[in-house]
Amino acid sequence: MKKFPINSDQEVAVLVKSKEELFKELENFIEENGYEGKKDALIQVLHKAQELFGYLPADVLEYISDKLDVPLSKVYGVVTFYNFFSTKPKGKHQIKVCLGTACYVKGADRIFERFLEELKVNPDEPTSDGMFSVHGVRCLGACSMAPVVMVDEDDFYGRVTPDMVPQIISKYKREG
Ligand code: FES
Repeated sequence: MKKFPINSDQEVAVLVKSKEELFKELENFIEENGYEGKKDALIQVLHKAQELFGYLPADVLEYISDKLDVPLSKVYGVVTFYNFFSTKPKGKHQIKVCLGTACYVKGADRIFERFLEELKVNPDEPTSDGMFSVHGVRCLGACSMAPVVMVDEDDFYGRVTPDMVPQIISKYKREG
């Protein structure tokens, strides 16, 4: 199991703060750092916005474009270039199923489908309770353990079978 920094603040922020408050926080961040009208602060501001809102909705991107005086097309260009940024909401727990070649030949597609079935959700969209989203991803660098699933940023599961899928889901349901 690999350990990465846990990144739960953003979900907490989304749950307890209104959009208005989040915009206010973003405004404070821009002003306190003197980023207003600064085109080269775009990446830092996008990072902050995603941390606050959990993703980058259109109105947030328009606001940033306006505040930093960067054309909206350029803002979208940067957001789509970096995988880190997302314009769609994600679940509190993000399930990443590796669909790289080594995992695929060992049945990763059946695992991916099973997650979607169990959670009654489409790829890359959050479940109705916002708890999960399921994403197909490229090689996670653990091919010897194929097929591989990663949940959030720190939980790796190797040699996953479709029958393990309900168990994996219930672990996170219990944790909340
Ligand atoms: S192809 Fe899945 S971990 Fe490499």
